[in-house]
Amino acid sequence: MTRTLSLLTPSGRLTLGNLVGALQPMAQRQEDAFYGVSDLHAMTTEHSPAELAERTREIATLLLAVGLDRATLFRQSRVPTHTGLAYLLECTATTGELGRMVQFKEKSTPSTRASLFTYPVLMAADILLYRPAVVPVGDDQRQHVELTRDLALRFNRRYGEVFTVPEIATPAVGARVMDLAEPTRKMSKSRPGSGVIGLLDPPDVVRRAVSRAVTDSDVGPDAVRRSPDKPGVTNLLDVLESCGGSAAGVTTYGALKRAVTDAVVATLEPLQDRYRELAADPSYVETVLAAGEERCRQVTEPVLAAASRAMGL
Ligand code: ADP
Ligand code: NA
Repeated sequence: MTRTLSLLTPSGRLTLGNLVGALQPMAQRQEDAFYGVSDLHAMTTEHSPAELAERTREIATLLLAVGLDRATLFRQSRVPTHTGLAYLLECTATTGELGRMVQFKEKSTPSTRASLFTYPVLMAADILLYRPAVVPVGDDQRQHVELTRDLALRFNRRYGEVFTVPEIATPAVGARVMDLAEPTRKMSKSRPGSGVIGLLDPPDVVRRAVSRAVTDSDVGPDAVRRSPDKPGVTNLLDVLESCGGSAAGVTTYGALKRAVTDAVVATLEPLQDRYRELAADPSYVETVLAAGEERCRQVTEPVLAAASRAMGL
């Protein structure tokens, strides 16, 4: 088993998409796994301090609620080696290469925070500190992980072999939950709206979101089927399956939506029960995180120390 590392940015409230695409796979893979809440990444754009604190607490609690008790859980900001190594890497990265990052180019205006410009360097530090052999990465982050490799290779050549250069893996395409109101876009915590199901949404909110889900005007006998020209219906069938339900015998959109609501509510209920128990005991959650963060410091301090020495510090 190779080391796994994954960060969730508290840029919003976790959705059913995050559960299916991130939390459930994380729960399947806990040996030598480091799972963090990347609170520093959530500060690269305008943010509310109270909301950042609340979202960070909520996500950390949800990670525990989903059963991640064997992985190392941490808040990025509590492991100072991340910012420490990011600075050293900023001294190897150039403004030219950071300016070529597509995500930055797309979002940048004169009032953009400098931290959005240096974000890929912090991400490189997040990765290199843990020496994973492989980093699975979706298309949206691929350029950033390529930069991580470039920075590691450059550092090793110029200052000495300090970093393990990670391979980039394209993850198996998992289930992708689409926005119920706009089923051609993925459901996203960063774009809340009526088509998003939050992991802490009560049953009536889930029911309302599903009942308003976009379908189409097909009323034929095989209306309930997957098809590229039926993105809304396809998505509802995917959600139903992801939540352990079945569309056997379902012939109308009304029945499909009832089945989806039941399956989603049945999936969220135990998670929400466990979340409430944990949220009622914040000192327990804090103890788990503090232990995880201590372990992160132990694992990453030698890497930062080696990089510092190599650079003459
Ligand atoms: P979001 O768009 O919700 O802010 P991110 O892009 O930060 O999510 O991704 C966080 C994790 O959640 C990643 O592992 C990503 O693959 C997964 N994820 C996000 N949205 C979905 C979705 N709609 N369906 C499946 N997985 C998703
Ligand atoms: Na996002």
